[in-house]
Amino acid sequence: DRLYADDIEAILRLKESRNAVILAHNYQTPEIFHCVSDICGDSLALARKAQGLDADIIVMAGVHFMAETAKMMNPDKTVLIPDMMAGCSLASSITAADVRAMKAANPGVPVVTYVNSTADVKAESDVCCTSANAANIVRSLGVPRVIMIPDEFLARNIQAETGIEMITWPGHCEVHERFTPAEIRSYRRQNKGVVVMAHPECPPEVVQEADFSGSTAAMADYVSTAKPEKVFLVTECSMSDNLATLNPETEFVRPCNLCPHMKRITLKGLRRTLENLTEEIRIPAPLMDGGRRAIERMLAVS
Ligand code: 13P
Ligand code: SF4
Repeated sequence: DRLYADDIEAILRLKESRNAVILAHNYQTPEIFHCVSDICGDSLALARKAQGLDADIIVMAGVHFMAETAKMMNPDKTVLIPDMMAGCSLASSITAADVRAMKAANPGVPVVTYVNSTADVKAESDVCCTSANAANIVRSLGVPRVIMIPDEFLARNIQAETGIEMITWPGHCEVHERFTPAEIRSYRRQNKGVVVMAHPECPPEVVQEADFSGSTAAMADYVSTAKPEKVFLVTECSMSDNLATLNPETEFVRPCNLCPHMKRITLKGLRRTLENLTEEIRIPAPLMDGGRRAIERMLAVS
C-alpha cells in the first residue's frame, strides 16, 4: 500500500535525522510493529530496554503508562507519544490517594503495583511487576500477604499460582475481561487440538480453561519454539497478526478483542510526532524518583 509506504519511508528518515528510536508494544498493528519499530516486546521488555538507550528521543508506540515508564528510566531524554489519550482502563482505575488508603488499612503489607498504572501510583508502591514476572516478584518479598494493584484478575491468578494472599483492587483490563469460559470451550470444540493461551489479565475462570497463561512475550516464545499447528491467543487482536507473520506454519484461530487505546497509535501519528516533536511526557521530580525506584526494584528481581 503506497500510503503506508510514504509514511514508513518518512518515519525511517525522521528517526535518523532526529536520532530517535521507536519502542513498540506487541499490541501495535503489523505496519508499526514490523516496519518502523526499533525495539518491540511485552511491558517488561519495553521497561528493561528503555534503560540507557543511545538516542536523543524515544517515541512510544504504546500507551501512556509505557511512555511514562520509558521517561522514568531516561529522565534526561525527550520521550514522546503520538496520542496522550492512549490510556488504559487499569491505569485509570486507581489514584495515589486510593493506594494511600489501602496502605493505611493494611499497615506493613507491601504494595506490588502492576506497571499498567500512573507515575503517582507507582511512586506510592514498594515494587512494580508485569505479567511476565508477577509471581517471582511476590515470592521474592517472602511474606504471606501483599497488596496487589490495580488488576484484580492478575492478582487472583497470581494468588492461585503462588498461594500468597492478595489484597486486591477492582481494576480490570477492558480487553481481557470480555473473554468468557464458554467462548473458549466453544472454540475448542470447533478447532480440534488447538492450543489455548490466555493472558493473566483474563478472569481466573478463563485462565483455568487455557493450556497456558503468560505475558505477550511468553506467548510469542511459546509459539516460535513449540510451533503448534493451531493456537488461540486469548488477548488483543494485533498479537495474532504480528505472530502470524513470523510463524507462517501455525494457524491462528482469531477471536480477539481490540484495545481502543493501543489503536490510537497509527503510522500517521508516529510521523507527525517525529515531525513536530509532540506530545512530550513530563513527570514532576518527586513522582519520577518514586516511580523509578519501584521499577528498578522490579528489574533487580526479575
Ligand atoms: P504484557 O505485554 O506485559 O503481557 O502486557 C499486556 C498488556 O495488556 C499491556 O497493556
Ligand atoms: Fe490497558 Fe488492557 Fe489496553 Fe493493555 S490491553 S493497554 S491492559 S486496556
